[in-house]
Amino acid sequence: MPLLQHQPKSILVTGGAGFIGSNFLHQIVPTFSDASIVNIDKLTYAGNLLSLQNIENAPNYQFVHGDICDSNLLKRLFEEHQFTTVIHFAAESHVDRSIHIPLEFIQSNVAGTASLLEVAKDAWMSESSCRETYRFLHVSTDEVFGALGAEGKFTTDSPYAPRSPYAASKASADHFVRAYAETYGLPVIISNCSNNYGPYQFPEKLIPLAIVRALEMEPIPVYSKGENVRDWLHVHDHCDALQCILSYGECGETYLVGGFGELSNLDLLKLLCNMIDEQLQRPIHTSQSLITFVQDRPGHDFRYAIDPSKLTTELGWSARYTLHEGLNATVQWYLSHQSWLKAVMDQSYRDYLKSQYVSL
Ligand code: NAD
Ligand code: TYD
Repeated sequence: MPLLQHQPKSILVTGGAGFIGSNFLHQIVPTFSDASIVNIDKLTYAGNLLSLQNIENAPNYQFVHGDICDSNLLKRLFEEHQFTTVIHFAAESHVDRSIHIPLEFIQSNVAGTASLLEVAKDAWMSESSCRETYRFLHVSTDEVFGALGAEGKFTTDSPYAPRSPYAASKASADHFVRAYAETYGLPVIISNCSNNYGPYQFPEKLIPLAIVRALEMEPIPVYSKGENVRDWLHVHDHCDALQCILSYGECGETYLVGGFGELSNLDLLKLLCNMIDEQLQRPIHTSQSLITFVQDRPGHDFRYAIDPSKLTTELGWSARYTLHEGLNATVQWYLSHQSWLKAVMDQSYRDYLKSQYVSL
């Protein structure tokens, strides 16, 4: 049976100045040239307009500096632009920060999502004649399912079992999204993706942090013994998956996104360090010697792994990058975008990093 394609006319992207949102905008602004696209972002430390310079003057794109918790602003935007499509990225996204400032995560991730849902629901209920042409795509994480042991993978049947304040806030947002679908018939789709890496990721997450530290010949912190496992996916593959889900996904459904990229943190860092040394033409093991074991993160989830078979069999998506190709391209990108790195890492962030780690 041929799949029906959703064709967005007017798109609201939230959190488009962040890592995944900016990559997604680079992809969709030229692709959906007939659609008007509005990006609302609060520009927290993790959001930066420098990441959007390539598209900032596109005729079908507009940036709005604002908070998704501001219902009045959202109402004005919905009235003005009559959005047919919402893609919701905006969130506080770093687990370590969520341990220190959980209430900020509840504010943006839970209250912010609820305020967006409420305004979207009111706008879309008043347009009942063409409600089938709407989509609300909520971009979520596999961390809502908790931690795996050495075996098994998350599937769409996995129970919710979040273990960090970040994961709990995203799980709560997922529940609100489903509640709006069940209660008001809002046409929602949820995607839960594994760990992303690639261009424009703020250097607090493991991969860009390690690249920055290796560049600066500073210690590369690995929690505990580096045995925790993550399932890595290149951000361009995630963005392709989101576009595929947006176009062909079924409302009310959940899709898990992952590309079979499992590796322990220590093995990942060793691989990354070798790539950095090779690209910088340094003697072998120069960067690896910087790897430093530090105190573990409280409640550190042992392993994540995704079974993406629903997405691959029903919608035909699959990852383009192998982990090796994706990491090499990512190292290359950061080495050739050091001015971006310097600009996003201000002194307060450097001070924050210094205060973070206790060496073992
Ligand atoms: P990010 O931290 O890089 O970017 C988040 C963006 O949201 C920033 O631009 C920030 O300014 C903006 N923002 C935060 N609070 C806001 C608010 N109240 N109002 C408006 N804007 C606000 O995050 P990311 O890695 O790009 O993640 C994007 C989304 O994808 C998040 O919802 C995250 O939970 C989800 N996700 C991330 C990953 C990953 O590995 N990074 C994996 C799966 C899912
Ligand atoms: P991170 O990039 O913060 O993503 P998440 O916590 O959402 O999975 O961390 C990826 C893995 O790397 C995770 O197991 C924690 C670990 N980690 C370190 O070992 N050292 C670090 O400095 C950071 C930031 C993370």
